[in-house]
Amino acid sequence: MHVLTTGESVSDPLAPYVAVERRPGRLGCWVMGHMVGGLDGSAAIGGRVGQLSTAPDAELFRLMRVLADVVLVGAQTVRAEGYGPVTLPPERVAARRAAGKSDTPAIAIVSRSLDLDWSAKMFTHTPADRRTMVVTCQSADPDRLAAARGAAEVVLAGTDRVEPAAALAGLAQLGHRVVVCEGGPTWLGELVAADLLDELCLTISPVMGGDPLPVSVTPAGAPVTPFALRHVLADGDTLFLRYERGPR
Ligand SMILES: NC(=O)c1ccc[n+]([C@@H]2O[C@H](COP(=O)([O-])OP(=O)(O)OC[C@H]3O[C@@H](n4cnc5c(N)ncnc54)[C@H](OP(=O)(O)O)[C@@H]3O)[C@@H](O)[C@H]2O)c1
Repeated sequence: MHVLTTGESVSDPLAPYVAVERRPGRLGCWVMGHMVGGLDGSAAIGGRVGQLSTAPDAELFRLMRVLADVVLVGAQTVRAEGYGPVTLPPERVAARRAAGKSDTPAIAIVSRSLDLDWSAKMFTHTPADRRTMVVTCQSADPDRLAAARGAAEVVLAGTDRVEPAAALAGLAQLGHRVVVCEGGPTWLGELVAADLLDELCLTISPVMGGDPLPVSVTPAGAPVTPFALRHVLADGDTLFLRYERGPR
């Protein structure tokens, strides 16, 4: 055990995350989970993240999308949080262009029910090369699947449910190398249970209480996955932890 001492200050909160080498794994992509939890691990307050997030966490949440080829998210989070198209500050867009990436990452929503608002801006106000994607399964309701195809790029990844490995392989086939998963806990837990999470960036917010919803909900019987601590950053009372999957 040792005491952590205060190190050099970080002028760009994204810089420690940009410096990471993310090598696509066997499915062709690297998967980072980016989540915030309270001191008791709660992932939401009143069904949303807003009160849980601090100003430095909210800033990092927006910036972390700079690293993504695609932002992957469960449908309940989209419904609860009212997701819209990704926008980034002009200087970050310029940096992405210089790196040969699209101006902003596309969003991919995981859903079996396809109970989504197709008139929302994330479906109607995205550039043609970054249409929002819906990752679903073959047994989805045919009428809703037709509606989804009209509004979004549809990725079929499983028969009765979205299989996490098939979902990631489908995204990788579309050229997405870095997948940033913004939750929610149920979908993140599916990735964890399938041992497909390469990196977890976890903000610890200095509050307790909120919803009985942990940051990751793994299905019963899922194996335990080891992670290695890669960095610890602090801004005021907010802690930023970065872990990578331990050696396989
Ligand atoms: N603290 C954080 O960092 C953070 C991050 C994100 C969200 N949240 C909070 O978490 C809550 C939402 O999270 P959640 O865990 O309830 O839901 P979620 O993971 O966002 O979404 C669950 C939904 O995703 C779809 N899904 C998940 N696995 C699937 C599979 N294998 N096959 C097919 N579809 C699948 C289903 O959509 P359908 O129902 O459409 O079939 C399911 O209902 C909200 O309160 C939100 O504010 C917190």
